[in-house]
Amino acid sequence: MKLLLLCLGLTLVCAHDEGNHDVVTSNFDMSKISGEWYTVFLASDVKEMIEKGSIMRGFMESIKAWDNSSLTLKFHVKIDGECTEMFLVCHQATENGVYTVIYAGFNTFRIIEVVYSDYIIFHLINFNNKQKFEMLILLARNPNVSPKLKERFEELCQEYGIAEENILDVTKVDRCLQDRGSHDAQASSAE
Ligand SMILES: *[C@@H]1O[C@H](CO)[C@@H](O)[C@H](O)[C@H]1NC(C)=O
Repeated sequence: MKLLLLCLGLTLVCAHDEGNHDVVTSNFDMSKISGEWYTVFLASDVKEMIEKGSIMRGFMESIKAWDNSSLTLKFHVKIDGECTEMFLVCHQATENGVYTVIYAGFNTFRIIEVVYSDYIIFHLINFNNKQKFEMLILLARNPNVSPKLKERFEELCQEYGIAEENILDVTKVDRCLQDRGSHDAQASSAE
């Protein structure tokens, strides 16, 4: 009986761990970040940065990691109600997984955690004219994520001092899905 309980216990421990063993929080393999992404959650300590009309309210289409350590981002923002394509080249900072880019000021961002085949969470700090704001961004390989991942994101926002009312569920707004490349026309029409 004791042995049986031990076995059962071990099985439970293993089963419990399973969902998490792909989460990477350091020594990132940036090549695995390349490909298509969807913005699912945006959060900021300065709420207007994620509100309509803000160019920080970006809807990711794809990321490419280059051999020279640069990262290029293709995304859309709505300017005067029009989906506008943006393209940024980000340079790697000295630390693995940390990047800088000039866009509405000076930005530095880093990966908090990633499951290469599923989602990635970035922490971004923007400096502009001695002002500063922070953002947490969740991108996913699919247009939507599980409630569990939403909980994880909310937990991180709390850790970073971002109030719950400053979290935007981007799946509830126009993400310019119709403006993505034709390779994922199917995903767009499914929304
Ligand atoms: C790396 O390569 C990309 C694509 O050719 C280019 O846009 C970027 O400027 C390069 N980065 C550096 C640091 O040279």
